[in-house]
Amino acid sequence: MSDQRPRVLVARAVFSETVERLRAHFEVEDNPDDVLFTKDQLTGRLRGKAGAFTTGSERVDAQVLDANPQLRVVANMAVGYNNLDIEAFNARGVLATNTPDVLTETTADFGFALMMAAARRMAESEHYLRRGEWTRWRYDMFTGSDVHGATLGILGMGRIGQAIARRGALGFSMRVVYHNRSRLDPALEAPLGARWVDKATLLREADHLVLVLPYSAQSHHAIGAAELALMKPTATLTNVARGGIVDDAALAQALRERRIAAAALDVFEGEPAVHPGLLEVPNVVLTPHIASATVATRRRMAELAADNLIAALTGGTPPTPVNPQVLR
Ligand code: DGY
Repeated sequence: MSDQRPRVLVARAVFSETVERLRAHFEVEDNPDDVLFTKDQLTGRLRGKAGAFTTGSERVDAQVLDANPQLRVVANMAVGYNNLDIEAFNARGVLATNTPDVLTETTADFGFALMMAAARRMAESEHYLRRGEWTRWRYDMFTGSDVHGATLGILGMGRIGQAIARRGALGFSMRVVYHNRSRLDPALEAPLGARWVDKATLLREADHLVLVLPYSAQSHHAIGAAELALMKPTATLTNVARGGIVDDAALAQALRERRIAAAALDVFEGEPAVHPGLLEVPNVVLTPHIASATVATRRRMAELAADNLIAALTGGTPPTPVNPQVLR
């Protein structure tokens, strides 16, 4: 007898417990070998599916949706959802969900760690040691810049931006300046001593600038050659948001010419490819999009994505919809 339950696609490898939980509700096609589907393959795999469990790597756009009019929900295991064309979802009444909150503190830990690694030249000095070049102590060996007491600049003061600001203000006595489309409630600014400034002031004043804004057409290349030129030559730039927010070619050139001191990047334009200019310069810390990667947080993200998928297809209320208007 054929299974009459809704069919769902789990588009990438994920915890077996999560897949088993979904199997209790749905007929599940999973991808334990973690094949990276092309757009055509993804479109084909979605045939007959009412729901999909995706990560930030699967792009679901109007074409994919039009080829699969039976699709009702895409549960993205990521807080960012720039891989989903939300306008196309809205136009077709398809629900998109994401995984906010559960990764905020973990991602903020990593963003702060990356910023410290850039400021104190940790990756660069480790590579030097591993190459066997360390023969004696020197007074000026790998001198970097202080984090404590410095000015922390945050571009994009959402949940993760605020969590990074808390670490800087309360743990490291940093002065916090930020730029965001809207100002925070003064009750949120006050305990952090955080000050809203325009973008140019942020770039000029920050000793350590951290990018935590969502990627969109508006934030594409928010940091390019002109913005880098406004930064202090001693400043660092950290990106834990999305590739494409920084013009990686312009950044590689600025780092090569020491127009800023250092950078730390967890995300890249066109990742997993990395701009060759970034691989060549020593003053950049590079990590493979792992800011939310602790075991506990990745489990929470997977569970929240599953909660959303199950609720959406069994008459419940998805906890974290991106476009709740389609539920009405
Ligand atoms: C997110 O949750 O958006 C992270 O970048 C993982 O994709």
